[in-house]
Amino acid sequence: MARWKLAAVVVLLLAVGAAARRRPRPLGGRWLLQTGAQPTNGTAQPTTSTTKPAGGQGYQRHGAEFCNCSDEDKAVCGTDQQTYLNECVMRCAGAIKLRDGVCNKACYPPGEKREGGDWDSRDPVCASGLTFMNKAEAMYDGYPDECIVEGVCKYVDIGQGPVSFEPTTGGKGKKWQDAAANTQLPDKTKPAYDYSEALHKSLLYYDSQISGTISPGYKRLAWRDNSCSSCKGAPFACWCPSLAALQLAHSYAPAFLGAAALCFTDGFNKTRLLDDIKFKVKWGADYLINAHVEDYVFMGSMGNQTEDFDNYAPWELYEKYDKQRLVGYCTKDDPCSEVTGLAAAALATASELLRPDNAAWADKALKHAKQLYAFATEYPGSYMDSKDDGVKVLGYLYSSTGYQDELAYAAAMLYKVTGEEKYKADAAKYFAAVPATPQTQEVGELKPLTAVTMAQLDPDNAAYRTAAEAFFNQYLNGDIRHTDCGLAYPYHWGALTHGNNIATLGMCYAKAPKVDPAYAARLFNYGQHQVDYTLGDCGRSWLVGFGEKYPQYLHQDTAYNSILVWKDDKDPLGVRIPGTMHLGPITQEKTERPQMWQKAMPDFLGNWYPARHIAYGTLFGAPLLNDGMVLSRRDYTYTEPTITYNSAIVGALAGLSEYYDVKPWKG
Ligand SMILES: *[C@@H]1O[C@H](CO)[C@@H](O)[C@H](O)[C@H]1NC(C)=O
Ligand SMILES: *[C@@H]1O[C@H](CO)[C@@H](O)[C@H](O)[C@H]1NC(C)=O
Ligand SMILES: *[C@@H]1O[C@H](CO)[C@@H](O)[C@H](O)[C@H]1NC(C)=O
Ligand SMILES: *[C@@H]1O[C@H](CO)[C@@H](O)[C@H](O)[C@H]1NC(C)=O
Repeated sequence: MARWKLAAVVVLLLAVGAAARRRPRPLGGRWLLQTGAQPTNGTAQPTTSTTKPAGGQGYQRHGAEFCNCSDEDKAVCGTDQQTYLNECVMRCAGAIKLRDGVCNKACYPPGEKREGGDWDSRDPVCASGLTFMNKAEAMYDGYPDECIVEGVCKYVDIGQGPVSFEPTTGGKGKKWQDAAANTQLPDKTKPAYDYSEALHKSLLYYDSQISGTISPGYKRLAWRDNSCSSCKGAPFACWCPSLAALQLAHSYAPAFLGAAALCFTDGFNKTRLLDDIKFKVKWGADYLINAHVEDYVFMGSMGNQTEDFDNYAPWELYEKYDKQRLVGYCTKDDPCSEVTGLAAAALATASELLRPDNAAWADKALKHAKQLYAFATEYPGSYMDSKDDGVKVLGYLYSSTGYQDELAYAAAMLYKVTGEEKYKADAAKYFAAVPATPQTQEVGELKPLTAVTMAQLDPDNAAYRTAAEAFFNQYLNGDIRHTDCGLAYPYHWGALTHGNNIATLGMCYAKAPKVDPAYAARLFNYGQHQVDYTLGDCGRSWLVGFGEKYPQYLHQDTAYNSILVWKDDKDPLGVRIPGTMHLGPITQEKTERPQMWQKAMPDFLGNWYPARHIAYGTLFGAPLLNDGMVLSRRDYTYTEPTITYNSAIVGALAGLSEYYDVKPWKG
């Protein structure tokens, strides 16, 4: 179980100068799905899926000149709560303006958390440049009253695009309560949406996040190119994988996608997407295999929480950043059982999925899975206690309360793959060590997925069904909040993933022996309600490139700061590299990372242009509790997609495609 910390804890650890994202986030982030040091050569190419051409939405001129500042004394306060001499100086530091005048120090770092206020209120507020769904939430995050302003944040510095929020209009008036109570399965011939198209697109999202060497035959998005193809240094001291490579997210994505593919093989097969999902699971799994450098050594994280985390430059340019990355290792002395346990689960899953196509590779993946599991269990320990500087980055950003659920899930998958009794016994043992029912299934909360998996494999042990249904009932019975239109909303950050996770897990659970068919139907109907909300039932689609109206402001680097628009300043397409920065042609010279960072961040966070490219299939982060949409890349708690969030909708759409009469999408 990993839990992200509240802002107050983390902000203190980050260096001055980074702008908006001084808060911890759920794992996943804008992580790459990457192969790391030794990328695959792309031999496993899907042959069946069609590719929707991913056109751009054009690019826009930024026009700002950052770094030729006067010494005019006209203080401005940045969203980082630093006071700058004037706006130019602020921009040059890569910061974003919150308002004129000096900062109110009471607002940064946030103070003591305060309980109180109406947690269910649907009136958003703004505090230090971040939108909260209501005042109670901002208070809980430690903002004093004087820092809380009614309404969604308005970004006064931008001087254009005054809209920062789009209310919900329309909606089909379907009630989640009706779906949750409905014990009849729907007519299979009448899908509400083209789930096959949506599934195709939700998988295409992973192509926008991919890194490594993409073979020409596979490349699907014109605006993504090879990145992190070469490394330097000893096995893992390479600087290529971008950003903070947090292995929990990198394990979770292939683990959950792989679990969905094993549960809904027919759904993927009939939409001709089975090869595609296998390719993606293998891509992620190869990365984990490469990270497993010795039997008892696993690369647990890569990157620095400031330098790498806040870099919004195109990933294809990371190799120009001529500096080695901070790398963290899990070792016998510094174990990280959450990380190695989840990696073991992902590799066991991948081996099962790929076995029919590539037995040799499946054997290799399984060998690593078993060894990582042995490592995780023989040397139990949390990354929270690690003394390794690199691994500490994980702890800085995300706290963990235990590794039993990761070990339970790893044991469950190893039991599924090997049939060995010791894994079955281990699964029961570790599962019993996590008595509480979590509110969500996600990175750091593996208990629901374990319960669903073991309900299939060990139906005689009723504990798994009891746990699964206790988890589901929180949603079916309304213990978990819902938005006005009926999206499950345990908390706002990444809320769209949770209802879709219930859909995935619910439809998978329905296949287990001894599950009451009426209960399974309720889960199905509730799950479909969540997916249909995502696809348009509430007046807009929350899946990029699906339907008429979908999100365009996403905290997604690749779709915005792409390689296609990052040219040097003499290039007609060279949109925003001011001559005053003296960088030279970016395409030829090595550069210092802070300079890249300085160029990318103000553009990404500080203007109103929509994403330059349509990253088809990207699941938006979250609506507000009133179903409105925040229209700002800055507000990452609402607008950030992740490789882990998307796995939820991939699974749910595969389940619906399996149930309904759908055809492969023709694009
Ligand atoms: C790619 O990998 C396959 C399987 O490992 C191998 O047979 C092939 O020779 C490789 N191709 C290249 C160009 O490296
Ligand atoms: C810096 O700004 C001054 C005053 O606006 C201008 O005269 C000068 O040309 C600028 N320098 C560069 C290198 O752009
Ligand atoms: C996929 O579907 C085809 C055609 O129905 C069938 O022949 C094949 O066995 C299926 N593959 C899997 C892995 O289920
Ligand atoms: C991360 O990068 C920042 C900025 O370069 C630096 O000050 C800090 O020491 C680095 N942290 C670690 C753990 O290397």
